[in-house]
Amino acid sequence: MNTLDAIQQRRATKQFDTQHVMTLDEKKALLNIALQNAPSAFNLQHWRPVLIEDRTQREKIRQAAWGQPQVTDASMLIVLCGDLSSWQSQAKNIWGQASEPVQQYLLPAIDQYYRDKEQVQRDEVMRSSGIFAQTLMLAAKAQGYDSCPMDGFDFDAVGEIINKPANYQIALMVAIGKGIGEHYPRIGKLPFDEVVKIDRF
Ligand SMILES: Cc1cc2nc3c(=O)[nH]c(=O)nc-3n(C[C@H](O)[C@H](O)[C@H](O)COP(=O)(O)O)c2cc1C
Repeated sequence: MNTLDAIQQRRATKQFDTQHVMTLDEKKALLNIALQNAPSAFNLQHWRPVLIEDRTQREKIRQAAWGQPQVTDASMLIVLCGDLSSWQSQAKNIWGQASEPVQQYLLPAIDQYYRDKEQVQRDEVMRSSGIFAQTLMLAAKAQGYDSCPMDGFDFDAVGEIINKPANYQIALMVAIGKGIGEHYPRIGKLPFDEVVKIDRF
């Protein structure tokens, strides 16, 4: 499947085939496509997907997601978190293989960009996670799977269920599997000229 087909055929899937199974290796391989290829600011890879394999965990999360069936019925579910402190904990680790001049330029730049800026730290997690999620959903589509991005859940409750540490932020969940049933037609797309501005607002 080419990229345009994957983009155009991806739909937010509400009904999944409960009998369809993805092996753990298949799930890891799919995740790895996004982990290795999605862009992130300063290459900091803020995303920290939590793969929910346990049935009881899935049931609990479904309850915290207003009973949405995708949570339990999809073959694969991730709670996509991000590490708010990756700018501090990972910068050296990630850029350690770069040349000395690159490190000397980048490491202070990263520090200056994030330090004491909680809003920036959170925004970056959300930006990176959104791009990660879309990369994952398109990769899934290219492999014949359907997906649903989700933020219809109680973030605090899901945070508790997965034992989320304080320096992590949940961005969204993504359910992946084999869709069943028909999609609603794509409706309500805003007119181009209402959305796109040229040069300035
Ligand atoms: C951040 C985000 C959160 C969403 N949350 C949910 C959700 O909780 N449940 C759901 O069924 N769909 C959810 N959706 C799917 C949207 O409703 C869907 O993407 C939108 O209606 C456009 O449809 P399409 O993706 O099929 O083109 C979410 C989408 C995004 C991007």
